[in-house]
Amino acid sequence: MSYSLLGRSFVKEIDFTPADWRHLLALAADLKAQRRAGAEVPRLTGRQLAIVFEKASTRTRCALESACREQGMGVTYLDPSGSHMGYKETVRDTARVLGRMYDAIAFRGAEQTTVEELAAHAGVPVINGLTAQWHPSQSLCDVLTMQEHAPRGSARISFAFIGDARYNMGNSLLLGGALAGMDVRIVSPQDLTTSPEVVAAAERIAAETGATITHTDDPAAGVRGVDFIHTDVWVSMGEAEELWKQRAEKLADYRVTAELMAAAGNPRVKFMHCLPSFHNRDTALGEKLYQELGLEGLEVTEDVFESPASIVFDQAENRLHTLKAVLVALLAR
Ligand code: CP
Ligand code: NVA
Repeated sequence: MSYSLLGRSFVKEIDFTPADWRHLLALAADLKAQRRAGAEVPRLTGRQLAIVFEKASTRTRCALESACREQGMGVTYLDPSGSHMGYKETVRDTARVLGRMYDAIAFRGAEQTTVEELAAHAGVPVINGLTAQWHPSQSLCDVLTMQEHAPRGSARISFAFIGDARYNMGNSLLLGGALAGMDVRIVSPQDLTTSPEVVAAAERIAAETGATITHTDDPAAGVRGVDFIHTDVWVSMGEAEELWKQRAEKLADYRVTAELMAAAGNPRVKFMHCLPSFHNRDTALGEKLYQELGLEGLEVTEDVFESPASIVFDQAENRLHTLKAVLVALLAR
């Protein structure tokens, strides 16, 4: 019997086994190769996806929409003001309505409980396109990208996530790396580190996969010997604007600079970021933060972002292939 995740939802990494994770990664690699060869076979013709996003998105929305079109699937996008959900219609009622009209629902918003509630009541697969707690489609993408860029013959991939580790990207990379059996380093000030519940979940998975998990507040020690250094924004969507100053002070030693990259002691170390990223003053918010904080670039400097070590656009492309794999795995009969 072939491997199947048919009918499942994709709302957080801990719902999946290491074998499930390997299956999704292999499927994504296969779909990517088919597309590159001009030989992609649409497996979702006539199916329909509803995308309900309560927060802005470039990559996740476009990856989902492109993946749907390339697989023959129809798609409806509801933007943050585009549906009644949460204001005058409950999540549960919205789930039951959309489940009658669509074959799957993708959701992005603040609370993990919302995407879990949609999944509980829709009767169709639900995909988490980011909540404050988890960003599983990003970690699947990031693991694929690391596997593609890993040094040939390396026994085990080693990476550090540095910065605000208690939010969606810190949590998801920890769990995604644990599922893939990697050497995972979480590098952050102690009050921005992983919650005990997420650490416990990661350690349970690591016991099965052989992953190692290290938490440290020492940036240079944390990145020593790694193949990849990841970071994320210092203040996430939905968090208070007032936090920028406080985070900039707290995370000043946790910026990804050329010195930090050198501290890996690995000339082949690569830089990764889920994006969007503050690496210069060329955006409205980047300029505003420069005026307020005097920092040109925040979590990563422009020289690292634009260096040959930066693989952020390979990573961004892989959002398409990995979200397509999720759609095909959950929906293709
Ligand atoms: N990485 C990511 O989720 O990007 P978007 O916010 O553009 O979807
Ligand atoms: N932590 C970021 C990730 C964006 C893809 C946020 O939630 O805004």
